[in-house]
Amino acid sequence: MYIPILIGSLRRGRNTPRLAHFLHRRLAAVDGVETDLFDPKEMNLPVLEERLAYLDDPPAALVRFGAAIDRAAGVVITTPEYNSGYPAALKNLIDALGPEWRRKPIAIAAHSVGAFGGKSALQALRPVLTNLGAVPIPATMTVPHIDKAFSETGDALDEAFEGRADRFLGELVWYAQALAAAGEVTNGSS
Ligand SMILES: Cc1cc2nc3c(=O)[nH]c(=O)nc-3n(C[C@H](O)[C@H](O)[C@H](O)COP(=O)(O)O)c2cc1C
Repeated sequence: MYIPILIGSLRRGRNTPRLAHFLHRRLAAVDGVETDLFDPKEMNLPVLEERLAYLDDPPAALVRFGAAIDRAAGVVITTPEYNSGYPAALKNLIDALGPEWRRKPIAIAAHSVGAFGGKSALQALRPVLTNLGAVPIPATMTVPHIDKAFSETGDALDEAFEGRADRFLGELVWYAQALAAAGEVTNGSS
């Protein structure tokens, strides 16, 4: 089962990769899961001019991203909170696709350097994903004081995060399996 992870920030000196790398390692250790990291810094996409499906000359990174979301059984999105929302870089990635998101269970992990752990970013993201026909799962992860919670290479500085992350990712795997089974029963119709 393929479950890619998105890094939702492009900022210089960004903290989001701390959380993304941590979750990537936990997810890679789950039996039967293949994962991957999508980083907008490496993808270097222009600000949206048109969605992938309508481009004659899409950038290779966008083609690869579209194919990855299309074949994904689920997706993990890591996002910081910017002004009570989530970064434009993340919206740019989301809007670049359309039908590829449909029926994908999505696990949102948010963070901030403050005490609330990116809760407002998480709430702002849900209706956007729902609008695309994706399924943001009930389980979420919020990380306050991200700079003190994980090292730059994504090691948890408090081991309680390991259990929290495994429960959070376990929920996503459950939804991914359930929706994949439902898809086989209905043969993708309707
Ligand atoms: C433009 C901007 C706006 C921010 N707004 C908020 C906010 O509304 N609430 C909050 O808790 N933290 C806010 N922060 C702090 C970020 O959550 C924190 O810097 C986090 O590390 C940003 O993620 P990044 O380092 O991956 O860019 C803001 C940071 C930036 C750069």
